Formats: sequence, C-alpha cells, structure tokens
Amino acid sequence: MKALVLCGGSGTRLRPLSHSMPKQLIPVANRPVLIQVVENLRELGVEDIGVIVGDHRGEIEAVLGDGSAHGVRVSYIVQHAPLGLAHCVRLARDFLADDDFVLYLGDTVLVGGLTEMADGFRVRRPAAQIVVHKVADPRAFGVVETDGAGRAVRLAEKPAEPRSDLAVVGVYFFTAAIHEAVAAVSPSARGELEITDAVQWLVDAGREVRVHAHTGFWRDTGRVEDVLECNRELLEALEHRISGDVDAASELIGPVVVEAGARVVRSRITGPAVIGAGALVRDSHVGPHTSVGAGCTLDAAGIADSILLAGSSVQQVLGVHGSVIGRDAAVGRGLSVGAVPQRHRLVVGDHTRVEFAA
Ligand code: DAU
Repeated sequence: MKALVLCGGSGTRLRPLSHSMPKQLIPVANRPVLIQVVENLRELGVEDIGVIVGDHRGEIEAVLGDGSAHGVRVSYIVQHAPLGLAHCVRLARDFLADDDFVLYLGDTVLVGGLTEMADGFRVRRPAAQIVVHKVADPRAFGVVETDGAGRAVRLAEKPAEPRSDLAVVGVYFFTAAIHEAVAAVSPSARGELEITDAVQWLVDAGREVRVHAHTGFWRDTGRVEDVLECNRELLEALEHRISGDVDAASELIGPVVVEAGARVVRSRITGPAVIGAGALVRDSHVGPHTSVGAGCTLDAAGIADSILLAGSSVQQVLGVHGSVIGRDAAVGRGLSVGAVPQRHRLVVGDHTRVEFAA
C-alpha cells in the first residue's frame, strides 16, 4: 500500500502562523504534525509516500527530505493551486499507479494510529473506506450517511444542514477504483474538485464504500484553538525525561521533558510540558500543557496551556495562557519612564490577535 499526503492549500484559518509556515509543519508537543503523519504511515507498513506540495514546497522538503530519516521514501508532487482533494489524486495518478493507497490530509492529528482503520480495508478491499468521527456540529466537514451496516450511502461536503453527525476524518483508504471517480467529478460550488463527490460517484456506481468509525482523538489543525487542543492531547502521553540541565532551585512536577542543551534555572515546571533543545527557562513558571520550542527564552515569565515556536521569547510577563507565539517572536515588558504610566508597545503583523486581560 502507498500513501498520498496532502500539504498544499493555503491554511487561511491559521493566519498569521500560516503566512510564514505551512500548517502541516506547526509543532504540536514540539513535533511537526506532518512528522506524526509520516510516522503513523510507517507504523502501518507504508514505505512509498507521495507528498502534494504547493507554495510551501521548500519548507516541507527541508523537514521531510527524501524520507530516509523516517524509514520511508518520499516523492514530491507539485500542485500549482489548491484545486481540491480530488485534484491531488488526479495529479498523483502516475505515482499511485494501480496500487491501493491511503489518502492522508497533512494537517490531521490522530491518536491511536491507523492500524485498526486499515485492517478492515485490507481484508475486504472495498473500493473505498472512509474514516468518520462523531461530532456535535459537523457543518465544517464532509458528512456521511450510512446504511447502519457499515456502508456509506450519501456524502455531502460542509452541508449547512447535516443529515448525520458523522464527520469525515482526513484519512481515506482507496483501491485504484478511485481514479475513474476523480476523473469524472466537476468543480463544486466553491470551485474545488471534492474527494467527497468522487466517493459519492463510487457509491452511485454501485461500488462498495465502507465507513470506519474512529473513536479516539482526532482534529484537523485548521484553527489555533484546534492546535492548542492537539497540544494538550499529545502532551498527555508524555514520558518524563531530562536530557538538559535543571538546577537545584527548580522544581519539576508531573511528566516533563527537558531536551538536550536546555537549561532550567530557579523555575517551576508543571507537566505535562516540554522544553525544547537549547531553550532557557529562568525565574519562570511553565505549564501545564505547554510546549516550549527549541532555542526559546523564558525569563521571569508565567506561561501555561501554550505553544512557543522555535526561537521565541517571553520575558517579564506573567499570566500568558492559551497562546501560540510564532517563530523568533518576542513578548516582553516595555519601559516606564519616570512618572509616565506604563504603555503597551505593539508591533503586530497582519491577521494577528492580541488579547489583554480585562
Ligand atoms: O479535516 C477533515 C476535512 O478535511 C473533511 O471533513 C472534509 O471532507 C475535507 O474536504 C477536508 O476539509 P478541509 O476544509 O479541512 O480541507 P482543507 O482545505 O483544510 O485541506 C485539507 C488538507 O489538504 C490540508 O493539509 C491542505 C491540503 N490541500 C487542500 C486542498 C484544497 C491540498 O494539498 N491541496 C488542495 O487543493
């Protein structure tokens, strides 16, 4: 079985982070989502992975390379515009040949791996097997109606009035039957070639489309709130490991990872939390549910339930919560001059959000 991982698209809902980095590379528990995708595929025994890339091709390639570091072979397939998930399958026709494959959206976080999902597909080999998850409000997703016996009967992409509570998760298993379907569909109202329409085409053609319900954790990292939730969830599985330096005046509570070259000085870290390689945490309180990226600086800071990307800093600011701080960004305290009350000085980029406590 091969895999096709989608890393094109624009990621507008994750601005401003997605201006400078593709959303598939956003670190969750200090590891890019895409690396977790590749590791799930490797665990399934998939070795040949096609990766669809768009504008952020360079960054994706810098992280994944030829895949050998992760025990897989990666081939890159360029998509010049995000014309839809079915368009990606069309582009990958030569790479996929007539093999069975997993289509995996590169911004998907799943806990529990893919093995259980793949088992049914491997044994029965329906034309397609889609993975669904019960959600309270499925309007932002593909939505599937089933016959109650594990077969899909109707699919709709982001319907205003969903007819079921089963949302399509970003993992699909296909036989070569999907190629005729993606060739047959036309652009949807939003101008994309929808994989949902291609799967419906298979159903309408009388082909077997099975539905697997995933009950474990799943999110796509489309919005900042989702990224933070994924971070909380993945940190829950953290195992305590100290490879850096923690001085005697510091206290670590619960599972904490301090990577090599990181220093923790006169600080309290409440796990689950991870401190990236080469970071400095001094006179600070960190965690729980906080991922501090490589080379970050925390000085007299208080931060919880947050993600700091590599090279960023928080200095002399307490109460940072539910935040994502971009690469090399600095959050700090301004100077008050004489009797002039303290002012806030902000250099805030496009599509950024800053919230002050009331
Ligand atoms: O997350 C699950 C949902 O993913 C499903 O429920 C929907 O049925 C499915 O259409 C998809 O919806 P999204 O709106 O979340 O898709 P998004 O545009 O975010 O793209 C998903 C991934 O595919 C993302 O990593 C970007 C990549 N992509 C997307 C498009 C449209 C491409 O590589 N090329 C594309 O043309």
